[in-house]
Amino acid sequence: MTDRVLCEITDTIATLTLNRPDKLNAIDYAMADAILALLDRVEADDAIRAIIITGAGDRAFSAGADIHQFASSVAQGPEAAVRDFVRRGQAMTARIESFCKPIITAVNGLAFGGGCEIVEASHLSVASNRALFAKPEIKLGMLPTFGGSQRLPRLAGRKRALAALLTGEPFSPASALEMGLVNQMVPHNQLLTAARTLAATIIRHTPQAVAATLAAATRGLNMDIAAGLLVESEQFARLVSTAGLHAGLKAWIGQRPLSRPVAAHPLEHS
Ligand code: COA
Repeated sequence: MTDRVLCEITDTIATLTLNRPDKLNAIDYAMADAILALLDRVEADDAIRAIIITGAGDRAFSAGADIHQFASSVAQGPEAAVRDFVRRGQAMTARIESFCKPIITAVNGLAFGGGCEIVEASHLSVASNRALFAKPEIKLGMLPTFGGSQRLPRLAGRKRALAALLTGEPFSPASALEMGLVNQMVPHNQLLTAARTLAATIIRHTPQAVAATLAAATRGLNMDIAAGLLVESEQFARLVSTAGLHAGLKAWIGQRPLSRPVAAHPLEHS
């Protein structure tokens, strides 16, 4: 495993740190592959309940895809550019988006291009007051390729997303908060504590309930409501036989015993 991404596990939370600070944590192919490999490990490890993604160094979460590297794929023509660059980046963000455990981005600095797309794909985001976001791909003569032309409009609405996508101009963490791209903005020195607190609040709940909620909300977002409701009922059906649901219901009911019995069927009242 390369050291492109560091992984530290504390109290069932894995912190993945994008680790290329001298290049503002630009995402080269090795970094994208390392994220995918680490997520495979984290998925298989029941002792890990949540993931925080952040950036090494004091300037950047990530300044986006490694332009030097993908320029050589572009030079090889559309087939190589899509195969080596676009598919890899899209696989990485799709894996983050559909992950079965909550992924929180802790945005410690610049989140440009692919860095911003990781934030878009993550389930929840906390931004430092020193964060700065941008969709600068248009300045390179291209569009986002790690899902950023699709997820930002869904998150922020079409016109707010298009303002970022078409101007390429940086925007503040306060704007990111207002757009719905991040959930919270906190003082820089409280960033990781805030992300960990958010993770700890989620992982009090059962892993099955968390996974079902993530699956229903994420898959449902890209479907019409009828199909989304089917996903919701399928996810609920999977929970019906879990010990977690039985324990949750029993605990709630135990604190609030019924003062009168429930009728077995509404017709019994008639
Ligand atoms: N790909 C490859 N290398 C990158 C990079 C990227 N996306 N972003 C930054 N770097 C490298 C720089 O080449 C430089 O390396 P060097 O010291 O070996 O020359 C180092 O990181 C520091 O970046 P630098 O440009 O010198 O910092 P800056 O403060 O002057 O500018 C940015 C910061 C973010 C404005 C600028 O780096 C930038 O425009 N990066 C590209 C952003 C982008 O377009 N991302 C989307 C790609 S699709």
